[in-house]
Amino acid sequence: MARVLINFAHPALEKSRVHKQLLATIRGIKGITINDLYEWYPDLDIDVAREQQLLEKHDIILLQHPFYWYSAPAIIKQWLDLVLEHGWAYGHTGKALQGKYFGNVISAGSSERNYQPEGIHQYPVHQFLLPYSQTAALCNMQYAAPYVIYGVHRMDIEDIRTAAEQYRHMLELLRDDKIDPAALPRLTYMNEALQLPSQTRSI
Ligand SMILES: Cc1cc2nc3c(=O)[nH]c(=O)nc-3n(C[C@H](O)[C@H](O)[C@H](O)COP(=O)(O)O)c2cc1C
Repeated sequence: MARVLINFAHPALEKSRVHKQLLATIRGIKGITINDLYEWYPDLDIDVAREQQLLEKHDIILLQHPFYWYSAPAIIKQWLDLVLEHGWAYGHTGKALQGKYFGNVISAGSSERNYQPEGIHQYPVHQFLLPYSQTAALCNMQYAAPYVIYGVHRMDIEDIRTAAEQYRHMLELLRDDKIDPAALPRLTYMNEALQLPSQTRSI
C-alpha cells in the first residue's frame, strides 16, 4: 500500500463549499493521513520536527488547497519555507525526500478555458505551479501532475459531491497501488489517472 499524506490548507474552512465537502468525503479513509495545517498551526507556528517526521513516513505527499492568487494560502508557503530544510530536504546531505512523489490538489474558481492564452488568466495552471514542481525536483522528488477541480464557482452542491467522490476514488486507487505513481508525472492532470487502464493504471 502506498502511504499518502495530504497536507491540507484552507484559512476559512467554515466558509468553504468545496474543501469542506472534499474533506468530509475523504476523512477517515484508512491509510490516508490528513494533516490540516491551519487547524494545527492557526498562528503559522509550524512544528518542523513533526512535519518532517510525517513526510518521512509517507510516499506520496499532496498539498490540497484552494487556488489563491495563482498560488496557495499563506500557510503552504510558511510550511515550505520552514520544513524543507537545507541538509534535510536538499543539498549534499539532504536526501530525506528522495524518490517520493509530490503534487498539488487544487480547486479553482475559474474554468479551464480561462487558463489558456486567450483566457483572462492567460497561462495554464501548470505554469503557475512551477515553483512546486521545481521545489520537488530540487528535493529529489517526482512532481505529479496536479489534481484540479475547475470552475467551482459555478458548481452546485451535487456537482461538488460528485467531484468529492471522484477524488476519494482516486486516493483509494493510489493507496491500493492500483495507480502506478510513476505514471503521475507524465499526465497533464492527476484526474486522468481515473481513466488509465485498470489493473496497472500506468503509462
Ligand atoms: C483570496 C482568494 C484568491 C483567489 N484566487 C483565485 C485564483 O487565482 N484563481 C482562481 O481560479 N480562483 C481563485 N479564487 C477562487 C477560489 O479558488 C475558490 O473560491 C475556492 O477554490 C473555493 O473553494 P472553497 O469553497 O473550499 O473555499 C480565489 C479566492 C480567494 C478568496
